[in-house]
Amino acid sequence: MDLPVMFLLFSLSFSLPFSSSSIDTIHEGTSLSIEKLEDILISPDGVFSAGFYSVGDNAYCYAIWFNTPCRGKNQTVIWMANRDQPVNGRSSKLSLLKTDNLILTDAGKFTIWATNTQSLSSVHLSLYNTGNLVLQNMEGVTLWESFDFPTDTLLPQQLLTRSTRLVSSRSQTNYSSGFYKLFFDDDNVLRLLYDGHEVSNLYWPDPGLVSWDAGRSTYNNSRIAVLDTFGNFKSSDSFTVMAADYGPKLLRRLKIDYDGDVRLYSWDEKRETWFVSWQAIQNPCKIYGICGANSFCNYISRFLPLPHVEFFGYDYGFFPNYTLDQCKNLCLQLCNCKGFQFKFSRDDGFSKCYPKTLLLNEHRSVDFDGDLYLRLPKRNFFSYAKSVQDFTLVCSNKGTLLLDRMYKRSRENGIVKFMLWFACGLGGLEIICIFLVWCLLSRAKQGSGADKKGYLVAVTGLRRFTYAELKKATKGFDEEIGRGAGGIVYKGVFPDNQTVAIKHLNEPNNQGEGEFLAELSIIGRINHMNLIEMWGYCIEGKHRFLVYEYMEHGSLAQNLSSHALDWKKRFDIAVGTAKGLSYLHEQCLEWVLHCDIKPQNILLDSNYQPKVADFGSSKLQSRNFEKSSFSRIRGTRGYMAPEWVFNRPITSKVDVYSYGIVVLEMVTGKGPTKGVHAIDSGSEIEAKGLVTWVRGKRNGAAAMTSWLEEIVDPILDGNYEMGKMETLVNVALQCVEEEKDTRPSMGQAAEMLLRQENESHNDHGVYLD
Ligand SMILES: *[C@@H]1O[C@H](CO)[C@@H](O)[C@H](O)[C@H]1NC(C)=O
Ligand SMILES: *[C@@H]1O[C@H](CO)[C@@H](O)[C@H](O)[C@H]1NC(C)=O
Ligand SMILES: *[C@@H]1O[C@H](CO)[C@@H](O)[C@H](O)[C@H]1NC(C)=O
Ligand SMILES: *[C@@H]1O[C@H](CO)[C@@H](O)[C@H](O)[C@H]1NC(C)=O
Repeated sequence: MDLPVMFLLFSLSFSLPFSSSSIDTIHEGTSLSIEKLEDILISPDGVFSAGFYSVGDNAYCYAIWFNTPCRGKNQTVIWMANRDQPVNGRSSKLSLLKTDNLILTDAGKFTIWATNTQSLSSVHLSLYNTGNLVLQNMEGVTLWESFDFPTDTLLPQQLLTRSTRLVSSRSQTNYSSGFYKLFFDDDNVLRLLYDGHEVSNLYWPDPGLVSWDAGRSTYNNSRIAVLDTFGNFKSSDSFTVMAADYGPKLLRRLKIDYDGDVRLYSWDEKRETWFVSWQAIQNPCKIYGICGANSFCNYISRFLPLPHVEFFGYDYGFFPNYTLDQCKNLCLQLCNCKGFQFKFSRDDGFSKCYPKTLLLNEHRSVDFDGDLYLRLPKRNFFSYAKSVQDFTLVCSNKGTLLLDRMYKRSRENGIVKFMLWFACGLGGLEIICIFLVWCLLSRAKQGSGADKKGYLVAVTGLRRFTYAELKKATKGFDEEIGRGAGGIVYKGVFPDNQTVAIKHLNEPNNQGEGEFLAELSIIGRINHMNLIEMWGYCIEGKHRFLVYEYMEHGSLAQNLSSHALDWKKRFDIAVGTAKGLSYLHEQCLEWVLHCDIKPQNILLDSNYQPKVADFGSSKLQSRNFEKSSFSRIRGTRGYMAPEWVFNRPITSKVDVYSYGIVVLEMVTGKGPTKGVHAIDSGSEIEAKGLVTWVRGKRNGAAAMTSWLEEIVDPILDGNYEMGKMETLVNVALQCVEEEKDTRPSMGQAAEMLLRQENESHNDHGVYLD
């Protein structure tokens, strides 16, 4: 081998990596290839790099990023040329053509991005120390610069103008354009906008405030905002903020994060991390659309970290080797803990926790290597700067949106639709109202999960069971205790000897899991001693189960013809049922119509106290009213109010009607249509109906005793209080009035019965024996 060749090899092997690894400028006719790792531009001071950045499986974007943190692969990207159209990992390149155009070609074929520039003199592309990628010609004229086309980040000295906007990325890992935008609005105000597929909404500054009240001016139409290196962000609408660590600092950036919040980040050299020195929105739940549709946002923040802040004295104690979480928990447990000092020493790996009982002598110093964590009141978010790591956003998909549904029944096409819920009783006038209700469920999840950053999905207050658990509890769905249109009910016993009723819902027509859970959560929240309590549920594949408390004495229907139901029990059942229904109609958060009151749906506990069952379960089954026949699911012949049968709008008075029928049935022992329990006058009742029969007896009677004696269930053997019985029957007859407005509300019915009870206690009643 002769000398020149050796020299050539030598120089090649050294010059290539060396020269190219530190270039900050390329000239016309040069291409940067995706396959050459060394084809990266680095700013002269080494802070920024520009090159192909991996955004997924064999997908790359031409990007600029901070070289710090240099460890690991997660660089802080500040700009992308083709965020919505990544290129292939093979043969893609960025070329500065002889025609002065800078283009990005995908897989050596398609031009997917270009600056479309031209110049008379030759051009060069340079990455500046500011992080700006600039295309300039020989005369120093800037033809194109990345600062004019920001993605989601604004660097110090980069202007946000009337023609530029910051657009968030889709998610933490997906860099393509998301839905949140920071921009100057037509009225010169800098705003945040959620611009989703279906809706768009401004959410910052607070849309409830006029610009002036939000501290914004609409008069200056220069529409310019800029961040300086000291951490001062100023906008021409007179909005200005100062970073919590205001002062000269090497690295800062303002970013609209994927969660829609705008944050100012500073680089902490000591710890080699970015920290938040300001953020636009303190309560992330104010960010529009943050949790997606049908969800509820709950924000939990407990501590506000203040980096490098020290408070002298007033320590509650010193707790060495406590982790940050342990220290937080400690502080939360101490009533007088106002916050704590936390120090972590890299050298020896020890951490120190000092809970504080008084915050005096504050002092901030970059040299101080500890943080103060200020304890925040539960509901107060006054904080100035807050680290992203330190809040938990609970996005609950189980919160719910109750939609307006006016269900009407149409005879012609056989499709049955019924209005279900929410009647506002205003005096006697019934106004059908629509309620949009959000439910916050369950206590927010505490513990380990709550300290993790990010979005947690909260679970309903109900327990979720697995199919295997239920199968085991029911011994393979062996003991059937009830069967209805909604599904089959089994008895089950859990390992802790808890007996439950497990309802297997019929095929869940196309209802998604989220929807199912949403509605479950509403039912789960309804809580009254006369309403059956739901404990849990199970969703697995197509299976939908509801787990209820077990009622020892089964349903009222099963007990009606038994001697166990004496007069007192019957009266109590009437009162309890009325209370439960009035709670459903009037007091509970979501005003719910039951629409299927009948003896089968009134269950009796060990003391024969009634609990109304099956409320709300139509919600879980009959979402798709076009396909399913509603009448099959709700409403039972004989118990349905006339307006329902005749396809008129229904209100809570349909339940009142059904209740009246049930009471009459309880008193007479005769079914509403067929006289099921009738011994003597069955045929008569069948012909006229129970209501007409009772009404006829009352109206035609000369004396009170005689007509009551004629209708009361013979099983009672005449053992009842006459005054009370008369009230009960009269209330029941009012409840079954043809005209719905003349029926009492469920609450009024309950009241009439209770008043009667009190009176009879006072005067000891007339006991007919
Ligand atoms: C990012 O999100 C967009 C829009 O949903 C999608 O088309 C794209 O495939 C995603 N990219 C990656 C790498 O997941
Ligand atoms: C990069 O970021 C992702 C998501 O935040 C994280 O899961 C991963 O561990 C990070 N990788 C490195 C090397 O830091
Ligand atoms: C408008 O805002 C710009 C940028 O903040 C500022 O330089 C200029 O003086 C303002 N104009 C007026 C009339 O206040
Ligand atoms: C903290 O823990 C380390 C080892 O985990 C131990 O060596 C050290 O003595 C502990 N410090 C104190 C103050 O307990």
